[in-house]
Amino acid sequence: MRHPERAFFKGLGAAAPNKVLSNHDIEKLVDTSDEWIRTRTGIERRHVADDDSNTLTLATEAGRKALLDAGVEPEEVDMIILGTLTPYIGFPATACLVQNALGARNAAAVDINAACSGFVYGLHLAQGLIRSGANRNVLLIGAETMSRIVNWKDRNTCVLFGDAAGAALLAPGSGREDSAGVLGTYIRSDGVQPEMLCRIAGGTRPVATEEENYLQMSGKDVFKRAVTAMGDAAELILRQTGFSGEDVTLLIPHQANMRIIEATARRVNIPMEKVLVNIQEYGNTSAATIPVAMAEAKASGRMRSGDLVLMVAFGAGMTWGAALARM
Ligand code: COA
Repeated sequence: MRHPERAFFKGLGAAAPNKVLSNHDIEKLVDTSDEWIRTRTGIERRHVADDDSNTLTLATEAGRKALLDAGVEPEEVDMIILGTLTPYIGFPATACLVQNALGARNAAAVDINAACSGFVYGLHLAQGLIRSGANRNVLLIGAETMSRIVNWKDRNTCVLFGDAAGAALLAPGSGREDSAGVLGTYIRSDGVQPEMLCRIAGGTRPVATEEENYLQMSGKDVFKRAVTAMGDAAELILRQTGFSGEDVTLLIPHQANMRIIEATARRVNIPMEKVLVNIQEYGNTSAATIPVAMAEAKASGRMRSGDLVLMVAFGAGMTWGAALARM
């Protein structure tokens, strides 16, 4: 029997608002310093939406670029999965609005909210849909406008986040070699302490305090959980697929904090030269971090056909996961 085909990364695209806020710009808003932000997080600047950009425009631009890169027409897309915790409107799903903007009239479209793990969760779903034969061309997008939900008076959180979108067109097989495509995915969640990282407003529960309108985070606790969970997930997916850290060409981790990235790389013996880091330019763009980094790596020649790429993420929920793919 023919082995079911894996999801293969056929095209990638990314988008970010033109407006940039440097650490020095943020020094004018809250009691912080460029030195503190750089040394504690690795972030130097972040892109933030202006009046002309939002989760919908960014997702559409990234999606269009991924289709172009893949050589796939919008009409050929049969599923759009959009990972976001900052949808354009309450409902309908931003994915449906992206579908309309792209002219992907033969697709089904749905949003998923797995916070910063949205892209890895979406990859798990896309792999299942493609392997089962249910879908052929899956457009997976991670898009966020975090600047609209952070409290710009809270130095503990506002320095950390940014806005962007990244997209991947996934399709069966590579046409190149049998070993290409998504080799494995692993996702988990733990909803025991949702308050560790949350935003109460935006749903149907009444908002009781001013703070509940914004993203709230217990940074130290999230940090510890992220280090453990990302290391565990990276180790597990390598073991499951029969590879080791030495086999990996590129580690593309979620970009939340440089120290979390370094700890994850150490856990699986991957030297920092093989780790993709763009946190200095974008900060934490939640579901968009991994596809933005992938699109940039492909465009610059840092990620090439045949490369073994390990993706690892952690986010609110808590949610976390990892994926291993041959490009
Ligand atoms: N500028 C200056 N000082 C700041 C600051 C800022 N932007 N933010 C916090 N501080 C202060 C704190 O108030 C604290 O001061 P205190 O000791 O007087 O109370 C001090 O810096 C140390 O805070 P601490 O929380 O110990 O710092 P940290 O080393 O844990 O770093 C984070 C804080 C938020 C950068 C870090 O915990 C982190 O990255 N957490 C995970 C974030 C994350 O990944 N979120 C998304 C998950 S997907």
